[in-house]
Amino acid sequence: MIAFLVFSIKSKMLYTNSMSSNVIFQKMEITREMRAKHKNQRPVTIWFTGLSGSGKSTLANAIEKCLYEKGRHTMSLDGDNIRLGINKDLGFSEKDRVENIRRIAEISKLMNDAGVITLTSFISPYIADRQKARQIIGEENFIEVYVSTPIEECEKRDVKGLYKKAREGIIKDFTGVSGPYEEPANPEISIDTSGKSIEESAEIIMKYLRDNNII
Ligand code: ADX
Repeated sequence: MIAFLVFSIKSKMLYTNSMSSNVIFQKMEITREMRAKHKNQRPVTIWFTGLSGSGKSTLANAIEKCLYEKGRHTMSLDGDNIRLGINKDLGFSEKDRVENIRRIAEISKLMNDAGVITLTSFISPYIADRQKARQIIGEENFIEVYVSTPIEECEKRDVKGLYKKAREGIIKDFTGVSGPYEEPANPEISIDTSGKSIEESAEIIMKYLRDNNII
């Protein structure tokens, strides 16, 4: 009886977050493993996190190029680009950033299910959201890369001129200036790109992928 009560409360809790009751998972004959085998690769998600201007997109681009040259099937999801398309309805409030990361985690999982190695470049400022992304994508498929370039260096680069605008108060809730960034405690890889060439930083990640038999 108690077990039944706990079960019904739990299922209620699950459904309150979702509009999709009465939806039943449909199993397909071609599995994730079969798709991955077809592509002859281990589909993982390389999740870059760090401040704006820290080097996430640049590094993701360099890694994707290396993987592409090795004949791997990849897809790159980038904060700015995704916010021009599927996530154009989202801003930079905490609620919107949570939803941004939730959708990216789900998309990355679908990409991995399709057999594709996925690289994501999002500030993803909250520990809890990155933890949720790890759960959605699966611990064994999730490689968190903390691009730990200090804010002073990001601000010196200010490639998009956004730090200047944030300091002037033109942009609100700007990560690192007027919005929070929660550092990862245990990322698989941590890279401070200041004083390093793109090749040097990229090699740290490529070595991790080789050492862990991902490529
Ligand atoms: S996240 O916090 O939700 O993960 P995301 O990576 O998608 O952010 O988008 C960050 C990019 O949006 C930055 O690189 C920057 O170009 C732009 N941007 C615009 N406004 C902000 C803001 N308030 N805080 C951070 N980035 C912003």
